[in-house]
Amino acid sequence: MSDTTFDLVVIGAGPGGYVAASKAAQLGMKVACIDKSYLGGTCLNVGCIPSKALLESSDLFYRAKKGLGHHGIGQGEVGLDLQAMMARKEKIVQTMTKGIEGLFKGRGVTHFVGTGQVRAPGSVAVQGSDGEQVLSAKHILLATGSVPVELSNLPFDGKHIISSTEALTLEKVPEQLVVIGGGAIGLELGSVWARLGAQVLVIEAMNQILPEMDQEMARQLERLLKRQGLKFLLGAKAQSAAIKKGQVTLTIAAGDQERVETCDLVLVAVGRKPCSAGLGLEDVGVATNERGQVLVDTQGRTNVEGIWAIGDLVPGPMLAHKAEAEGIAVAERMAGHAGQVNYEAIPSVVYTHPELASVGASEEDATAAGHEVAIGKHQFRSNARAHCMDDIDGLVKVVADARTDQLLGMHILGPQASHLIAEGVLALEFGASAEDVARTVHAHPALSEVVGEAARDTVS
Ligand code: FAD
Ligand code: NAI
Repeated sequence: MSDTTFDLVVIGAGPGGYVAASKAAQLGMKVACIDKSYLGGTCLNVGCIPSKALLESSDLFYRAKKGLGHHGIGQGEVGLDLQAMMARKEKIVQTMTKGIEGLFKGRGVTHFVGTGQVRAPGSVAVQGSDGEQVLSAKHILLATGSVPVELSNLPFDGKHIISSTEALTLEKVPEQLVVIGGGAIGLELGSVWARLGAQVLVIEAMNQILPEMDQEMARQLERLLKRQGLKFLLGAKAQSAAIKKGQVTLTIAAGDQERVETCDLVLVAVGRKPCSAGLGLEDVGVATNERGQVLVDTQGRTNVEGIWAIGDLVPGPMLAHKAEAEGIAVAERMAGHAGQVNYEAIPSVVYTHPELASVGASEEDATAAGHEVAIGKHQFRSNARAHCMDDIDGLVKVVADARTDQLLGMHILGPQASHLIAEGVLALEFGASAEDVARTVHAHPALSEVVGEAARDTVS
């Protein structure tokens, strides 16, 4: 019989839960972490990491296929071995999962495999293959994440109408893929399969892809993705699907028009919903909202003493690094330290090519918040390094307050935007002005020079 008394029991071993468990153990707490499926959660197993592995491989394939002759590199026929591409992705996932196993071992976190359910404040039941065990703990952390939203008129069948999970493991490249939802998943996985040869149509309900992003940047990305062969139908919704002989016929409402599209695969990527059902929350009295999200205060505490919640399960952006930051902060608070998450400076990146990265306010948000905005922009095509890299599309856009010069937001559409945005995040974190960024010396030749130039442009 294993030990069943802990300082902290975490339910869910995603980037929120495993990071919290590890941090709490490092701070001297006796910790258990329960997961019913896998270490690393959605992010590591069916989210961030496998999608990025496929994005990297498909990008290489696309570039090689287009030809490297202008670099003076000759080559023969470029072929696709999808099985090898998938095997590489799986290997990365396994390597990273082993890393978490090692981390838990090193820090003395007890890992339970099973389904966790809160029985009472301080008491969690784990239903595993060996039956039920009840654990007691001073603190309980709910970190059960989220699952894909299903459309009632287009239910998942795992074969013709699929979620992101299946779209990461296809055995062949679809001929025609329709993606419902022009959000992060739709654009990333749509890009993967378009690069590998599928004809991809993205259907988005709003009049802009990535409706949360700065309008100008989202429009620019749409233009560049169209150049790569993706098609878009904005302000449209799929009404119904009929499946016959392996083909899906979709009826789509676009404004006051109806149109029909036929394809061999439909990826539904219209958001994710929190995993709060079956956790025993109603019995214990933990408050949730109408979307099933667990309600927490600014410190991650639910309304029930000793029960905390983080990550995709609670309101806020559904991002791995947000879950991680919350995991660290709640562990620190439980251990009697100060924990802090700056929700004003959480970056968000869409890993298309080019990548679109953003932090802080968009131009529209800043204007709506009453700022007189100063906008600075600079294009990657004027940057020598971008030319050397053969990657000149996109721009950096800086949003500042015109009166005070305070930096309000930074938006980067361009090569390696996911790395470059760190400068904007740090600048916001330190309350920088646009001039602070402009006067920061950037290495030459580097893509980051475009960030400095865009900040400089806010004053001109
Ligand atoms: P999760 O990662 O969902 O982990 C929750 C864990 O809880 C799971 O392992 C689950 O098995 C377990 N669980 C649930 N219920 C129970 C229970 N009752 N008992 C025991 N265990 C339970 N975010 C980014 O920041 N960057 C990206 O590039 C990115 N790419 C993504 C790509 C895709 C295709 C998808 C789907 C998501 C992506 N995300 C990305 C989002 C990211 O995966 C999530 O924001 C993140 O995983 C949330 O972490 P979490 O710890 O809150 O929950
Ligand atoms: P999302 O919320 O990012 O985008 C969903 C899109 O679908 C929205 O643009 C919405 O307007 C549209 N939509 C909703 N209903 C529709 C309908 N019936 N017909 C057509 N369009 C419809 O959700 P997504 O892409 O599924 O991603 C889920 C979560 O995972 C997000 O919160 C995202 O942040 C996270 N994620 C993050 C990534 C990253 O950080 N790079 C990558 C992938 C996912």
